Amino acid sequence: MQMSTTTTHHRSSACIVINSTVPGCICNIQGWCWSSEQRSDMASSAVLVLVLCVILMLQQAAEAHLQVGAYNTTCPQAEEVVFQEMTAILGKSPDLAGPVLRLFSVDCFVGGCEASILLDSTAGNTAEKDAPLNRGVRGYEVVDAVKAKLDAACPGVVSCADTLALAARDTIRLSKGPFIPLQTGRRDGNRSVAADVALSSPAPGANITDIIDLFATKFNLTAKDVAVLSGAHTIGKARCSTVSPRLYNFGGGGQNGNASSDPSLDANYTATLRGVCKPGDNATLVDLDPVTPAVFDAGYYALVAGNRGLLSTDAALLLDPATGAYVARQANATAPNDNDEFFADFADSFIAMSRLGALTHHKGEIRAVCSKVNPPGANDDAAANANAAASYHHQPLGLGLLLAGALIALQAL
Ligand code: HEM
Repeated sequence: MQMSTTTTHHRSSACIVINSTVPGCICNIQGWCWSSEQRSDMASSAVLVLVLCVILMLQQAAEAHLQVGAYNTTCPQAEEVVFQEMTAILGKSPDLAGPVLRLFSVDCFVGGCEASILLDSTAGNTAEKDAPLNRGVRGYEVVDAVKAKLDAACPGVVSCADTLALAARDTIRLSKGPFIPLQTGRRDGNRSVAADVALSSPAPGANITDIIDLFATKFNLTAKDVAVLSGAHTIGKARCSTVSPRLYNFGGGGQNGNASSDPSLDANYTATLRGVCKPGDNATLVDLDPVTPAVFDAGYYALVAGNRGLLSTDAALLLDPATGAYVARQANATAPNDNDEFFADFADSFIAMSRLGALTHHKGEIRAVCSKVNPPGANDDAAANANAAASYHHQPLGLGLLLAGALIALQAL
């Protein structure tokens, strides 16, 4: 074996030489030489690296995840279609913003953001939408209208779960709130059971400790998330049936009977609300934020801090140190930056909520009709494969490794 003085590699049976011609060795154009034994070892290693890279890429594709722009290759216009349709719908009926935003939260909090709230009850099953706690949930027709536009543009590609998520995101933007770069790639679930709702939702009149515990244990969300997400009550309405327990016969009434009201609710506001919600009126709707009812802003926190939070759960935010401090800070924020911190926080918490229980890749399906699971045997593979392929295009690590493997292989040749 001949070794040049500039050799940097040492192997006993080797012929690693730089810039030298050695009998029995094969040299590449950079002047590196190997014995045929070494060369075959290196080729095997390169093949092994390549195989590992391919396995890694396949595994990554199989673990497709939520990502911003998941439809960029399969339906590039999807987000624009949603935005245009939501602009048209809210242009005609601004009051639908609140319902759509709430619809998304009640979907995510029960079994994840997989469009289970949209499914109708069937002969053998009462669905989430018919659970007592969801009686006031509205806005289903908005999702159907947006999904119809999406299916016209890209048939069978965008899930109902993503349709709802993007529609909810756009209600915030169209109500002068922040634009939230939302991840997509959710698929639709097939379970929707009314009994699940109470297990994952704050009970009516739940205290703040219960709510914080529920968010932590079920959703891995923090007390701050509770305070921030409650800020969604800056738009939309509640039914008088929700509000009346604070206005009449509060806590059983006691000596004052029907005249007793929740002492934590501002007295003037109580009087105003009694003018709107008469005893026994369950249907009339009341603005959650009567000052700027259609504007997504931090004004909600000033209301809560001033004992004018409409829901008992809004008022309850004042009773926990963490949520109370958040309310106080936002209530005291001053123009022109009064919305900045709330908007940034809301975007973070909204994204965290939007990731709950998302189904991706071959889990779930792309429903043809948002209120019904696809018929058994319906061919969903085209959309699944298209989404998996889209996800494959976003695997920079796998591609990088594949390139590295290819370079090693080239070096060995
Ligand atoms: C802390 C947990 C929450 C509780 C206890 C809660 C409770 C409620 C209740 C009781 C109503 C009135 C329902 C009715 O009277 O029909 C309501 C409405 C609403 N909620 Fe929440 N909510 C919570 C979290 C959220 C979240 C996370 C969002 C969205 C991100 C949200 C958005 C809304 C909206 C926009 C409305 C108005 C709906 C409409 O106009 O129809 N809520 N919420």
